[in-house]
Amino acid sequence: MKHFVIVAILVAISTLLVKAGLNVARLLPVEASAQAVPIDRLFGVHMWLISFLFSLIVVFMLYSIVVFRRKPGETGEGKHVEGNTKLEVFWTIVPLVTVLVVATMGADALKQTLAVDPQAMIVKVTARQWSWSFEYPDYNVTSTSLYLPVNKQILLQMQSEDVIHGFWVPEFRVKQDVLPGTTKELRVTPTVIGQYKVRCSVLCGTSHALMEQPVVVQSEADFQAWIAAQQNIANASPADRGKKWAAENGCAACHSVDGSRIVGPTWKGLYGSVVQFEDGTTATADDAYLKAFILNPNAKQVKGYALNIMPANFRDKLTDDQINDIIEYIKSLK
Ligand code: CUA
Repeated sequence: MKHFVIVAILVAISTLLVKAGLNVARLLPVEASAQAVPIDRLFGVHMWLISFLFSLIVVFMLYSIVVFRRKPGETGEGKHVEGNTKLEVFWTIVPLVTVLVVATMGADALKQTLAVDPQAMIVKVTARQWSWSFEYPDYNVTSTSLYLPVNKQILLQMQSEDVIHGFWVPEFRVKQDVLPGTTKELRVTPTVIGQYKVRCSVLCGTSHALMEQPVVVQSEADFQAWIAAQQNIANASPADRGKKWAAENGCAACHSVDGSRIVGPTWKGLYGSVVQFEDGTTATADDAYLKAFILNPNAKQVKGYALNIMPANFRDKLTDDQINDIIEYIKSLK
């Protein structure tokens, strides 16, 4: 009996120490959604269970090795023990009850993460190889970053254009696969203002690892200001929008709009002009030419300019509408 009391005390101490160690290790990122609360509570219970079971096994084992080791001069066999009905009933009932309690908690956590708020704001999420886009149907706004107001339930309605992707913001805890041909839903109520990232959680091809985009949780006022700014862009003229896209995507760093030569050809007077290539051929800079060039800038070398300077990834960064806006902007630079 004395041994059991000592081991029980050691197990209790070890459990506290292991749990403290797990806390220090900070296995989970910040808890930033209402749905994360029941999930983290479950994680907490499991961390206690893990700490206890680890201690139970390791402390018993080490105690036995040290205290009951064969002493010098001992030559006999150990006592033969066969079967212990009480112990077997105990170690059947206790884990059974534990598993049932955890299962109940799990079902309750699932219920809480699926809870519906009829006032939820809808955001339509589109996943593709290898980017996300977000549409706010209530405001007629689209964005490549996911802006969300704090403390409001968001209903994400998600579709894929090609293969299976996975919507995952670790700080929100909840995660949902995004499938082609069907709409999957996920509800998130952000609770902490801050910057996060949405990652793709399903291996979806070459650039899967790069399929991450900003998530910005803001106060309601900041969110409304952002929406208003986006709507102003939507209502601006195509050329004005094009100017904004050109600034945001770094075009202006290489293309002047006043006729001066920097890294690339100036955009002033470019539209409708005849472009000469190093191989002696020419082309007229019309809509089709400019669009093809933006999508595939290194197919032909423009006379007097180096190849492989302009990034070839604008097909991923810009939508068709944005490219058309940029062409309208170039058109306006006579
Ligand atoms: Cu999309 Cu991985």
